[in-house]
Amino acid sequence: MNTLKTVSSPVSIVDQPALAKSQSSILEIWGGTPLEGKVKISGAKNSALVLMAGALLCSEPCRLQNVPSLADIQGMTRILESLGVKIKQSIDTLELDPTNLTSTDAPYELVSKLRASFFAIGPLLARMGVAKVPLPGGCAIGARPVEIHVRGLKQLGAQVYIEHGVVHAYASQLKGAKIYLDYPSVGATETLMMAATLAEGETILDNAAQEPEVIDLANFCRSMGAKISGAGTKTITISGVPNLHATDYDIVPDRIEAGTFLMAGAITHSDILLESVVPEHLSAVTAKLKEVGFQLTPDANRGLRIQSKGVHTGTEIETLPYPGFPTDLQSLFMALLTLSQGSSVVTETVFENRLGHVPELVRMGADIKVKGNVAVIQGVPFLSGAPVTGTDLRATAALAVAALAANGKTSISGLQHLDRGYANFEQKLRDLGARIERVPTVEA
Ligand code: EPU
Repeated sequence: MNTLKTVSSPVSIVDQPALAKSQSSILEIWGGTPLEGKVKISGAKNSALVLMAGALLCSEPCRLQNVPSLADIQGMTRILESLGVKIKQSIDTLELDPTNLTSTDAPYELVSKLRASFFAIGPLLARMGVAKVPLPGGCAIGARPVEIHVRGLKQLGAQVYIEHGVVHAYASQLKGAKIYLDYPSVGATETLMMAATLAEGETILDNAAQEPEVIDLANFCRSMGAKISGAGTKTITISGVPNLHATDYDIVPDRIEAGTFLMAGAITHSDILLESVVPEHLSAVTAKLKEVGFQLTPDANRGLRIQSKGVHTGTEIETLPYPGFPTDLQSLFMALLTLSQGSSVVTETVFENRLGHVPELVRMGADIKVKGNVAVIQGVPFLSGAPVTGTDLRATAALAVAALAANGKTSISGLQHLDRGYANFEQKLRDLGARIERVPTVEA
């Protein structure tokens, strides 16, 4: 039985039954079928999550559009509701009313399930003068500390300490400051940008992250009346304002979902068109795809077409903060490189433990050797379908992409990861012609 909704049917953002079944289902994919047609890319998960938290800054209702239907969005919805935000959702729209917040303590049982809920700390502190948010802890891809967020909040004048695993932050009024980030952390840049919107005076974030999701957050805050310039460069300037007002905002397309479908098209040597993308957000990825032998054609209407020239070669990839090659597409590009002519080297520099897909790709017949954070891939003529398990979101997606090109059937477990970050994943692939089914493993 297929437990996901179709692309065309209205899908609630909070889809409890589908979520409950993530852990008790597997994806079965029969490889070798070329894909064809168009796929519409959803709004960006990593924008939607931070923008939802950003709504806490505002004492009037906000509307977010183009919100993807994902388990992580449901998680963030629950966190915000626990703080007193009233939320209504329809197909891909969220109406958030944060007018009367009832709590400044984010509950551990919700935060521990969703790292992005740590984003609540900056807006809560800035608007309410106090925030208590549990440390989110590590996850499958790394330790994921938050000391850059904490140091920056202290520089904005907050008193911050950690007790019993909870970050406590207090400030009657945050004060603008010049802050140098030791590393261009996406999350820390976003936390500090949100906090600084309501600080007194000017804040300069130096060595800031330049990811499109940071720009989207800045645009969202600007649409509520914040004064922010330089987002998308290494230096962001925020002039604090006393309060923010209601807005209606459209979330940017998901460049990582788009990259995932590019890899699906590439590995099956297909001709497909992605709709609703911003091709410039994928420059590092499309440059590499061209280098290994694919043709990429953007169109004027937010489209991006990928075509194959028949074979593809190996290459070298190093993940880096934007505009470098995204860590979130490393596993997916590696899946493609397993079937290249010649050898490739992939170096993961952003997260310390993001090669969990390697042993599973090897089970499918890939030739990959890992030393530290470097994987050396020798292209093989074919992959074979096998039972495999996804260890994190992008690792699971990479196994699905590999399965599209493998001989026979691949059965993928770990769908609770996939459902965190891909809206209607198998339906979108099925609409492109893939042979893919979600199969329950136990009665839910
Ligand atoms: N880091 C620190 N200290 C900090 C903050 C970060 O050492 O205080 C380190 C991290 O441990 C990591 C590196 O800096 O090694 C990069 O972390 P960053 O803060 O930039 O990442 P993030 O904000 O935690 C977001 C995305 C990730 C994406 C990364 C990098 C969200 C909700 N998550 O995480 O998305 O991989 O940026 O682009 O925006 C995913 O979607 O699968 C995903 C993991």
